[in-house]
Amino acid sequence: MSDEQAETQRISVSQIQAQKGGPPLVCLTAYSKPMAQWLDPYSDLLLVGDSLAMVIYGLETTRGVSLDAMINHGAAVMRGSTRACIIVDLPHGTYEDSPEQALASAKRVMEEAGVQGVKLEGGTDMQATIRLLVDNGIPVLGHIGLLPQKAESRGGFKIQGKDDEGWKRVMDDAKAVAEAGAFAMVIEGTIEALAREITDIVPVPTIGIGASPACDGQILVTEDALGLFSDFTPKFVKRYAELGQEVELAVKAYADDVKAGAFPGLEHCFGVPKDKD
Ligand code: KIV
Repeated sequence: MSDEQAETQRISVSQIQAQKGGPPLVCLTAYSKPMAQWLDPYSDLLLVGDSLAMVIYGLETTRGVSLDAMINHGAAVMRGSTRACIIVDLPHGTYEDSPEQALASAKRVMEEAGVQGVKLEGGTDMQATIRLLVDNGIPVLGHIGLLPQKAESRGGFKIQGKDDEGWKRVMDDAKAVAEAGAFAMVIEGTIEALAREITDIVPVPTIGIGASPACDGQILVTEDALGLFSDFTPKFVKRYAELGQEVELAVKAYADDVKAGAFPGLEHCFGVPKDKD
């Protein structure tokens, strides 16, 4: 993106798509307005991921978050951003039954959150669904490889593509998602060589998470990268800060001040000498 474009308008899905093979796309997750404000100047795409089920709501898996919740978080992230392309995950149970169910859910997300597209997990099994959404003017970000919503039924959070069968399945998924018209696809948790080959083959950008530096972009769960979520830290996460520890130190200092009567000071009170309010 040129600096001029970045300052004047939100990055579109077409611009993301056009960046195939160009400078790496910078993508992160965001669930709230303040976090979106911090991330927006540096991000091409912000994903309102269903990972919020675990990171924000403390659930064991990404399942269990409602479409209403995703819409609310999507709208919050829109309010906190002006530059990045904003995409919302379709949560488990809102799109898998039929392409028509997916279309109804995606329409709600687009209309009520005002975002630029939706993401859904799956490959060959979701080809008809992606095609229907795209035909109805709804941009779709695909998600292949390790699929967190389906992890339980596939034996857990396992790296994909290690054997010939797994490699072929993920490769077929990548081709199906691209052929269906997705503007880009997330590749999660696959062996490096497979993500590299998919990136070479498909005509749309690949966005890696635990995949390969050869992908056209990278995404991380922001709270993982900032040290704000420590329940489980996968190998592919790089910690850029330990904000959780900073929060703990600050809260301890506050608690100590309150207990010692050191907060509030007179400067925090109204109607005392020198107070202009
Ligand atoms: O829900 C999410 O945060 C995601 C990313 C891990 C890609 O799908």
